Amino acid sequence: MIEKSDDIIKMEQAKIKKSEKKQSKAYEIDSHLVLKVNNLCKTYITGKISIQALQDINLEIRKGELVAIVGPSGSGKTTLINCLGALDFPDSGQIIYNVSNNGEGHNITEMSNREQKYMRLNNIGLIFQFYNLFPVLTAYENVELPALIAKKNPTLRKKKVKDLLKIVGLGERIKHYPTQLSGGEQQRVTIARSLINDPLLLLADEPTGELDTETTIQIMKIFLHLKDSGHSILMVTHNNRIAQAADRILTLTDGKIVSEKKAGKNIDDVYNIEFGGH
Ligand SMILES: Nc1ncnc2c1ncn2[C@@H]1O[C@H](COP(=O)(O)OP(=O)(O)OP(=O)(O)O)[C@@H](O)[C@H]1O
Ligand SMILES: [Mg+2]
Repeated sequence: MIEKSDDIIKMEQAKIKKSEKKQSKAYEIDSHLVLKVNNLCKTYITGKISIQALQDINLEIRKGELVAIVGPSGSGKTTLINCLGALDFPDSGQIIYNVSNNGEGHNITEMSNREQKYMRLNNIGLIFQFYNLFPVLTAYENVELPALIAKKNPTLRKKKVKDLLKIVGLGERIKHYPTQLSGGEQQRVTIARSLINDPLLLLADEPTGELDTETTIQIMKIFLHLKDSGHSILMVTHNNRIAQAADRILTLTDGKIVSEKKAGKNIDDVYNIEFGGH
């Protein structure tokens, strides 16, 4: 009986996938890229004031890459993350995700609301500064929720929730509610939650903004571990030290990418040098 209902869910999922594919136009994209952004622009108009939050942004994220975005307050970092996560709408430009993993890209700005929702649920993992966990759900239930909505196979789902909580170091805390966890532990739950549906890309907006130095390093080490196991991550940060451990650092100023440099330093070295350890 259970197997039967699983089969029905699988069939329904396949139907959704088929219809989503039919609706959005396919673009050719380098198969090593998970994301390609072309000429992205966004202006906010409030009364008589107009702010060009994003001006002609072009960027590429490769598979298994951890990219940091830094820049002063108001430079457009959150606007960029929100547009990439289909939480905000750019005025022009393309945001092409390599959805089918084989060089067939789809532009989320051309998708219907339903398709964008599907993308957010299945292909984009979102992590914010203020954790955004459901207080009435345990760590386990918070991580499980997106998989329940996406109707993932229950047996695999349950195993995956436990595995992910173990990866982020919370294997023993699965029954804890958010109020029973520290800030760093809550952020680990959101990282596990962002991974539950195997997203193409993790988008993190100041994931360590609320955390002390030691916890910041721990969270960055989780991101580096995820990167080493093939995940792709775009992370906004005000912390220039942890940015040094990303593969590349993009600097935004007044809505423009004004510099791009390679980084890839060892996180322990970055902090040892900073504190005179070497
Ligand atoms: N909904 C909005 N309406 C009007 N203006 C906005 C809106 N959201 C952002 N802005 C403006 O767009 C610019 C970019 O804002 P954004 O939040 O992307 O900056 P940020 O780089 O994330 O800054 P911070 O480091 O402080 O988080 C700012 O000048 C901001 O005031
Ligand atoms: Mg911001």
